Formats: sequence, C-alpha cells, structure tokens
Amino acid sequence: MESDIQGRAETQQLDAHGRLRHLLTLDGLPHDLIVRLLDRAEELRSASRGGTRPLDLLAGRTVINLFFEPSTRTRTSFDLAAKRLGAQVINFDIAISSTTKGESLLDTVHTLEAMHCDAFVVRHKESGTPAYIAQHLRSPAAVLNAGDGNHAHPTQGLLDALTLRRHVRDFSALRVAICGDIRHSRVARSDVHALRALGVRDIRLCAPAQLLPEPVEFANCRVFDDFDAALENANVAIMLRLQKERIETAAIPSQAEYFQRYGLSSQRLQRAAPDCLVMHPGPMNRGVEISGEVADGPQSLILEQVSNGVFVRMAVLAQLLADSGAR
Ligand code: CP
Repeated sequence: MESDIQGRAETQQLDAHGRLRHLLTLDGLPHDLIVRLLDRAEELRSASRGGTRPLDLLAGRTVINLFFEPSTRTRTSFDLAAKRLGAQVINFDIAISSTTKGESLLDTVHTLEAMHCDAFVVRHKESGTPAYIAQHLRSPAAVLNAGDGNHAHPTQGLLDALTLRRHVRDFSALRVAICGDIRHSRVARSDVHALRALGVRDIRLCAPAQLLPEPVEFANCRVFDDFDAALENANVAIMLRLQKERIETAAIPSQAEYFQRYGLSSQRLQRAAPDCLVMHPGPMNRGVEISGEVADGPQSLILEQVSNGVFVRMAVLAQLLADSGAR
C-alpha cells in the first residue's frame, strides 16, 4: 500500500478546525474523535431503541451508495443507517449505469452531484479511490470510505472497536491475534488503528509468509507465521477471509492445507485464553479460515459485529451530515 495514498486520505478528511469532513481512514484520526464516534453509536442505539424507532436527524439529506465491488454487510447497513436517520438513499447500480458505456469515475460523480446529494459512500477495488473522489468534488458532499483496495475500511474498524468495547473493560491488558490474509486486508489495517486508539498494546498478526504485509507497514505489531504461537493465550481472535479475488492462485496453499495451518477450529481455539472472543468481518469461508462450529459457537461475536455496523454507520453519517453545520 502506497504511503502517499494514506497521506492524502489523512490530510483530506479533517477540515482546518480538525472537524471530520470525510471519513477515509482511521489512520491519523484523533483518538478523541474515534471515541466520540463510538459513544455516538451507543447514543443512537438507545435513541432508536435498537434501530426500531426512526429518527429524523438527516431528514432532507440524500446519501448515494456507490459500490464498485460487491457487498452485503456494508452496503445494507449504510442503507439502513441513513434511512433510520431519515435520509433518502440511492443505491447506485454500477451494472446498469452509464459506467458500462465508458463514463469515467469523475464524470459519474459530477453527474450525481449535479442532482444534489449530501454524501457518497464509496467502495472500490483500487486503494485511494474515495480520497480521489473527495479531492475532485465540486459540491460540499462528504465521502465515506466503505472499503478501498487493501487500504482502509474505517467503518469496519469502528464497528469492531464498538463490539469489543461492549465486552472488554481493560484494553491495555488485551492480547489480540489477527489471522488470515493480512496482506490484502483493509480490515486488518483499520482494525489495528482502532485497537491502538482503544489502548491495545499486544497485537499479533499471523499469516503465511506470502500473505504477510511489508514489515514497515505494521511496525508496532508482532508478526507470526505460526498460528498456534500467535493464538497462545489470546483474548481476541479476529479471523480474516482468504481474499481469492486479490491473490495470485499460485501463491496460496490448498484450502484444506490452509485450514490445517491457519484455520480456527474448536481444538485450536483451546490454545487461546478460555474466554477468547472470536470475530470475523465477513463474508466467511467456512472450513477455510474458520470452522462452522467456532463461527456459530458461544465465543463468536460475528453477528454482533453485523448489528453494530448499523449504529456505527448511523454515528458517522450523523457526525458528517447533521453535526457539521457547514453542509
Ligand atoms: N465486512 C464487509 O465489508 O462485508 P461486505 O463485503 O459484505 O460489505
């Protein structure tokens, strides 16, 4: 991942007064702002009675979901979050849009801006695309990164932090193992930033050598290629999907071999601390990085993560569109 992509995202997302202008990355986002967003998510959970009571914080606002890659969780939860806050939502369908006739990304964005919208929620396979859009906007709309390449997935990092905060008291004593395809994982990158912001000191990254990132990228984490060693006494295991669409097939072991060495089975989970919490951002490859038994077991927070995603996205939308005063 190129450092200039990260640098651009960091500087673009805050205005001159340090207020959130776009949400592009958690890297460099002030700790107080991250905590405020998590607190806001909890407030909105209560105010909306767990999502069942509609709110009108974003009445009259329009949010456009602009997903150039498939998504179930992120797209649906942004849609629900915006609607539960009273906004109108357009789920822009790339497959039947004029992008298929060759319309460029920026022409597409400027066309949508001309119809008036307040926010673009952007997912794209190329790292840096949300920041690129933010840089070229002609209106005061906000850009929310819903996952770009292997760069960042900031709302996933926030929802994982929110989920853990509901279960953990002392983050400074926590031992977190993140295992899987770290090299291609925007979730791993955003999770590390979120965990650091909460005060987690012991973060272990585990992957086969060919799926580990460049050492400079995660200088403050311990890196393992032995999953049993990484899992030893861990309190949290975050499992990551093997991203076959981003990997050259020659570089990965067979699925059976991968599960043998890097899959979280019930037996392997016993190496972790007895109450170890199990997380996965989804979608899962059952029997590859995690067994069905563990995914559906009592230590799994996977569906809680999904539920919390709606409240985190409500919080981010509220912060950007209802609280800014500028838009
Ligand atoms: N975690 C996540 O981003 O899932 P989706 O690809 O389904 O949005």
